Amino acid sequence: MSDDLKRRAAAAALDFVEPGMKLGLGTGSTATHFVTLLGERIRQGLDVRCTATSSVTEDHARRSGVPVEDLDVLLTLDLTVDGADEIDGAFRLIKGGGGALLREKIVASASDRMLVIADAAKKVAQLGRFPLPIELVAFGHLSTLERVRTHLSALGYDGSVALRANADGALFRTDNGNVIADADLHRIDDAEHLEASLTLLPGVVECGLFLGIATHALIASEDGVERLER
Ligand code: 5RP
Repeated sequence: MSDDLKRRAAAAALDFVEPGMKLGLGTGSTATHFVTLLGERIRQGLDVRCTATSSVTEDHARRSGVPVEDLDVLLTLDLTVDGADEIDGAFRLIKGGGGALLREKIVASASDRMLVIADAAKKVAQLGRFPLPIELVAFGHLSTLERVRTHLSALGYDGSVALRANADGALFRTDNGNVIADADLHRIDDAEHLEASLTLLPGVVECGLFLGIATHALIASEDGVERLER
């Protein structure tokens, strides 16, 4: 059911796409639906240029007939369409459940507009139930992890902070060769301070808080697709 809602949000996103646009393609199951549907439009003659936020999305795009170029060729984008793990009433997001947060944030920040596509379960009154992904440089990551734990504890967060692993138990690696710590924060009260202070810690590359980046959202529920604008 949730997958059907994700597909409906993705289908509604096609209304935002215009010929000649430069697009950022997100990562995750909802974004995958969008790429599939975009591929159908491209086969019918739509002319757009695209860049991907992960190797998984890039592979899926090529298989779906969606041309993919390097962000450094396109430089700036008209629109990025991506999913989210949480979105609050102020268009603040938690992303990175798929491990692509760094490239997702770079691509969305290069875009005039970021459109979030999601099923209604992602809409929250308060960020933090979904564990916050924090990307760490692989070098010294156990030491950095300790620094992150100490920092979060000093801010009053007492939940666990664990390195992400694959199903086979091996350490998860991002497309950038980094690792991810998932922080169980339960409730984020000051997302702006949290993001700013976390990303100042040596060894922390990025965190999954997207603040002031998303401009539009399409939230699918059984009642239809809600269209929101910041
Ligand atoms: C990947 C992400 C995804 O957008 C997020 O995890 C949502 O995924 P899904 O669409 O599969 O629910 O941030 O890094």
